[in-house]
Amino acid sequence: MGEPTAPIPASDSAGFWVPEGVWVPKASAIAREAGACLREFFVKGVETEYKGDVDLVTVADRTAEMLIRTRLAAVFPEHGVFGEEGTRDRLEGEFRWYVDPLDGTTNFAHGFPQYCVSMGLEQRASNLRPDEDGVLVAGVIYDPMRDELYAAEKGKGAYVNGKPMRVSKTPVLAEALLATGFPSRKRHASPNIHFYHEFTLRSHGVRRAGSAALDLAYVAAGRLEAFWEFNLNPWDTAAGILLVEEAGGDVTDFQGNHYRVESAEILASNGSIHPELVRLFADMFAGRDLAPIPTAAEWAAHRKALASGSQ
Ligand code: IPD
Ligand code: CA
Ligand code: CA
Repeated sequence: MGEPTAPIPASDSAGFWVPEGVWVPKASAIAREAGACLREFFVKGVETEYKGDVDLVTVADRTAEMLIRTRLAAVFPEHGVFGEEGTRDRLEGEFRWYVDPLDGTTNFAHGFPQYCVSMGLEQRASNLRPDEDGVLVAGVIYDPMRDELYAAEKGKGAYVNGKPMRVSKTPVLAEALLATGFPSRKRHASPNIHFYHEFTLRSHGVRRAGSAALDLAYVAAGRLEAFWEFNLNPWDTAAGILLVEEAGGDVTDFQGNHYRVESAEILASNGSIHPELVRLFADMFAGRDLAPIPTAAEWAAHRKALASGSQ
């Protein structure tokens, strides 16, 4: 990716930044409207329901998805919509929006102000098999708490509130700030705590803020050097992947292979530290050079020894 080529765009009559592009101007207006709706619910407070044993959902998730679905059908009547809360409209067509109406539901339900709307557009050639990826051509993420709109179209660069975004230039993991996330479902099956531990020891730290889409937007904005997670869904990642790529970063699986929308693992970075991250994933999966974590019982024995003066 070279430097962004699109001119810095203008504001609309309400004073909002209006991005250039074929799809993002309309998608941005929809994301802003959905974000304003989420924010109203956030201020009022909402009842929480469970989708599974620990997976939360609220009226805000469903209302925002309905709003986005209705607005997309009005402005892009040919486009498909694949939404986290169950929307599966017109999926046989050339274009498909992956929609997460509220990324960060657990934060939202607890009043923790880190959540967003995420909408990514995939273009699918007519000869693709259902399991083959198309090309991500547009992405919009809106953070209603900070009024930050992140937007990108393929080949036109990435922007936050009208300013071009570039990934950071940090060259080594030892100077990097990272982010990850943990699944709410099947938590016992996730090995990510080991990765969290190793990366924490080898970097400036790992944030776990609870919104994968915003984590990706932050990599694109140069606020984080990298983000990884196991088992995300296309609605979490589609918009953020394009933002990172258009801002000059890399997005792959943990082996460094081309990322696929259905990939069960994602590694996004500023590009400079990507080879180092891929090497560390390989070492970890092979069990090489791991730093042992003391067990709670070992630590209790250590404390006891310290207290008794024998250490
Ligand atoms: C979740 C968030 C979180 C990530 C989880 C996702 P949701 O999405 O992106 O950061 O760790 O894996 O499921 O459920 O809030 O839309
Ligand atoms: Ca999500
Ligand atoms: Ca969601």
